[in-house]
Amino acid sequence: MRSRRSISVLLPGLILLILAGLAHSAGAETIALDRIAHIHDIAIDHSDPSRLYLATHSGMFLSAPDGTATRVGAVTHDLMSFVPDPGNSDRFYASGHPESGGNLGILMSDDRGASWQRLSGGASGPVDFHAMAVSGADPGRLYGMYGGLQVSSDGGRTWRKAGPLPERTFSLAASARDADTVYAAAIGGLHVSSDRGRSWRPAFPQPRPATLVHVTAKGQIFAFIYGVGLVVGEEPGTGWEVRSRDFGDRYPLKLAVAPTDPDRIHVVADTGALVTSKDGGRSWVSYLGHDRETPELVAAAGRTYEEYCQACHGKKGVGERPEDMHGQDQYGFVAPPLDNSSHGWHHSDTQLAGTILNGSPRNPRMLPFKDIMPEEQARNVVAYIKSLWNFRSLACQGARHMRCMH
Ligand code: HEC
Repeated sequence: MRSRRSISVLLPGLILLILAGLAHSAGAETIALDRIAHIHDIAIDHSDPSRLYLATHSGMFLSAPDGTATRVGAVTHDLMSFVPDPGNSDRFYASGHPESGGNLGILMSDDRGASWQRLSGGASGPVDFHAMAVSGADPGRLYGMYGGLQVSSDGGRTWRKAGPLPERTFSLAASARDADTVYAAAIGGLHVSSDRGRSWRPAFPQPRPATLVHVTAKGQIFAFIYGVGLVVGEEPGTGWEVRSRDFGDRYPLKLAVAPTDPDRIHVVADTGALVTSKDGGRSWVSYLGHDRETPELVAAAGRTYEEYCQACHGKKGVGERPEDMHGQDQYGFVAPPLDNSSHGWHHSDTQLAGTILNGSPRNPRMLPFKDIMPEEQARNVVAYIKSLWNFRSLACQGARHMRCMH
């Protein structure tokens, strides 16, 4: 009897181990990054800040700037929230719901998402946290959003309800200085609580919608305030610097700062696109290729543009003016702008490079450049063109442009 019971207890675990082993030996699944429609949360890979852990609708992936994403671990749950331990880069926490329905409670991984264990169901759980935070001041202190705020003081094993959150909270961040201090980005503004979520007060003077808040290990507070821009403060956070304002009608939803290089910031835009800054959030580039596209490369590609493209597409891609009669073809079309003003950003990098190399089938004036420049140089010119774009164009590039047509 006894041995039979232990076999029936062990067997499912054994099968899981075998399955995990098989999945491992079969090699991890790698897909095109733009096939991932829902990125719920991101964190930077400590060993390579150009790569990002992505908590998605179907498990966790590790992205690369070449446009690929590789599955991490075997879970395919909808991970609604995910947060790394600021003091231990191998430890992740996550929550969400499985494909089969119900809620996951709180999961923990000690091997960067390769395997997960369930820590707790949460208070009145199982919960499905849509936002989570781990304190940089006390790694045992965790916060989660499930209706109101829940708090754990023992590393996520037990939870209790702390009280209501500001109305429509989108994002939580824990202070790096004080374990009892937690921030909430909400429709009515950025808020802070110094008593574990019992009471809240405004943290940013203007009560405009705050879509995200993130605190770095060193106590820098990043927040996006709709209508203001990306703002940065220093804990305890009284003065704010506006790092960039030009977001158009788009906004970032999640943000990650490289621990070794605070100028390298990645965000997930509301369109689902990954957008990167290499200067602390002052200007933005596309995540794709950002590690390859040095300022020198972009400057050299700018000179290629001036030599081969500017005569038609204008200085800095402003386009040919319709009054340039000589520029019109028989249908009245001219060389379109390649900056934000026309629809160059409706095309993916591959499509743009394809037009440069192969020309336009509709207009022979857009000649094929494939005999003039190698493919890599054409891709570099695409990088130059994209350096003329604002956050909105980067967030709306390619197939995502449909989401921006209103
Ligand atoms: C002699 C004029 C001329 C030159 C030189 C030229 N183009 Fe064009 N380009 C055009 C015209 C005209 C079109 C519009 C084609 C069409 O409507 O199909 C076009 C279209 C494009 C498009 C597609 C834009 C869109 O929104 O669909 C891209 C990208 C482009 N050009 C890039 C370049 C680059 C990069 C260079 C330099 C390497 C270059 N072009 C050189 C005339 C030119």
